[in-house]
Amino acid sequence: MWPDHRLIDLFKTEFPIVLAPMAGVMDAELVIAVAEGGGLGSLPSAMLSPEKAREQVNIIRQRVSAPVNMNFFCHTPVELDAAAEARWKARLAIYYKELGLDPAAPINAANRAPFDAGFCAVVEELKPEVVSFHFGLPDQALLKRVKAAGCLVISSATTVKEAVWLEQHGADAVIAQGAEAGGHRAMFLTENINEQPGTFALVPQVVDAVKVPVIAAGGIADGRGIAAAFALGAAGVQIGSAYLRCPESKVSAAGRAALAAGRDDSTVITNVMTGRPARGVQNRLMREAGPISPDAPPFPHAATALGPLKAAAEKQGRVDFTNLWAGQAIAMGRELPAAELTRDLAKSALARLRQMAG
Ligand SMILES: Cc1cc2nc3c(=O)[nH]c(=O)nc-3n(C[C@H](O)[C@H](O)[C@H](O)COP(=O)(O)O)c2cc1C
Repeated sequence: MWPDHRLIDLFKTEFPIVLAPMAGVMDAELVIAVAEGGGLGSLPSAMLSPEKAREQVNIIRQRVSAPVNMNFFCHTPVELDAAAEARWKARLAIYYKELGLDPAAPINAANRAPFDAGFCAVVEELKPEVVSFHFGLPDQALLKRVKAAGCLVISSATTVKEAVWLEQHGADAVIAQGAEAGGHRAMFLTENINEQPGTFALVPQVVDAVKVPVIAAGGIADGRGIAAAFALGAAGVQIGSAYLRCPESKVSAAGRAALAAGRDDSTVITNVMTGRPARGVQNRLMREAGPISPDAPPFPHAATALGPLKAAAEKQGRVDFTNLWAGQAIAMGRELPAAELTRDLAKSALARLRQMAG
């Protein structure tokens, strides 16, 4: 029934729909629900310890016998130098004052660790069917170990050049992440956000440039978007924002209200929340200090000094300093249980594809 079966055959899922891993706003519950609905559930592990990631996969495996995708970041860690930290703290000083916070009080460092030997050991032990990466791929030695464990490897590309690089370095499928997408730009061979193509331009050009199946991501939130992705040559889709308002997500009440009020023009690409460009619902900090600021320390250190501000504002029901990552189709998200949403997305996509086939 699907015009391209390569991804279904590769992942052995009922539908060619991948739940986008969304670090910080979801856990095993959403993975299980999407798996029950027939999609590929993805566990974001970038903000978890290896032990916590193992615990989460065990919970998933106890509840469903579907394939699972473990997702990791593979950025090169950068030390935060004192001058950059001081500059950023000075920029945020007015907010600390306003919220009555002590800027000298000790704070926890932002926790986004890259894939390393510790995570790799968990992958070797649990053997998830799929491992996905953001920001490129880990070094060849680690990648070899992931492949030797029998896992399929996928990663996101934001340009044709990145897609070709991923294929050449061993990716079994490539996620083409258009500029509409919520969350961090996966970019790893470029730093120029102004050059990032949108999904409609990116997907067919990636399809023409690589032999592996292409998964379209960014701005896809209903059956029409999925059908369009297939028309552009994709073999599947990765969907994030459309799942954020599902009851199984871990978005806070204030966050849910902000997402529910989202429109086509509510999001921007910013670097002030973490130091790396990411698309999210515009908040006060992005408006007043960004959306792009040279003062934001490198990833993930910008998030460290924001921690106390985020917590204090959220206590007052405000998301002024919260990174509400979301894409341009956020208004199309629905408050449906994720299994039901997944089945409905597949059903409406198939109906639309049949209609298109005449
Ligand atoms: C809240 C949120 C968090 C995200 N976190 C991750 C992540 O941890 N790992 C990852 O590979 N991609 C992450 N992404 C990006 C998604 O993989 C994907 O590119 C994006 O959700 C697709 O666009 P859409 O949100 O318009 O569906 C995140 C996206 C969102 C919305």
